[in-house]
Amino acid sequence: LRLGVLLSGRGSNFLAIANNIRSGALPNVEIAIVLSNIADAPAIAAARQLNLPTKVHVSKGRPRAEHDRDMLATLRENNVDLVILAGYMRLLSPEFIHAFPTRILNIHPSLLPAFPGLDAQTQAFEYGVKIAGCTVHFVDEHLDHGVMILQRAIPVLDTDDAHSLAERILAEEHQAYSEAIARVASGQYEIDGRRYMKRV
Ligand code: GRF
Repeated sequence: LRLGVLLSGRGSNFLAIANNIRSGALPNVEIAIVLSNIADAPAIAAARQLNLPTKVHVSKGRPRAEHDRDMLATLRENNVDLVILAGYMRLLSPEFIHAFPTRILNIHPSLLPAFPGLDAQTQAFEYGVKIAGCTVHFVDEHLDHGVMILQRAIPVLDTDDAHSLAERILAEEHQAYSEAIARVASGQYEIDGRRYMKRV
């Protein structure tokens, strides 16, 4: 299974996936291309250090549909089977989503459907929830919405602030994303109706 990883920044989720591939924990999976919409994303430098193919299509000032066509062309050139959004801070056009039906994954740092959108960890902390976590889901045309693959939950501690909570959620993300990719790579699932992924 060939992954196309889309990101915009730090890339700690991408690095966790790359480590799991290198260690053999994610068999039959390889990173075909790391694609960024931000020229100086730290993750691009990290990907180059790992000798992974990289490409940047700068999105700033460009219409979404036009930029997405460039992204799609690069994914196709690299024979990508599965698109992994890993801190890709840009909405996808409907054309992009329809080009990879149930073949785009996203990770979100909340227990969806609570706290979609930006700064989910701060939203959760300020709301005062006692359980927080992350969700890996297929991407559909709505923000942070598609069929869920898995969630990991952690308690919010009395000693937490928004920063420490976000750090502990991130540690869960680093495990959850590879686990979700392995599940999708296994092909041992079906999607029931609009919401429900189950093992077969
Ligand atoms: C993560 O919190 C992820 O859940 C969200 O964006 C952040 C990306 O972090 N979608 P990183 O670039 O993977 O370190």
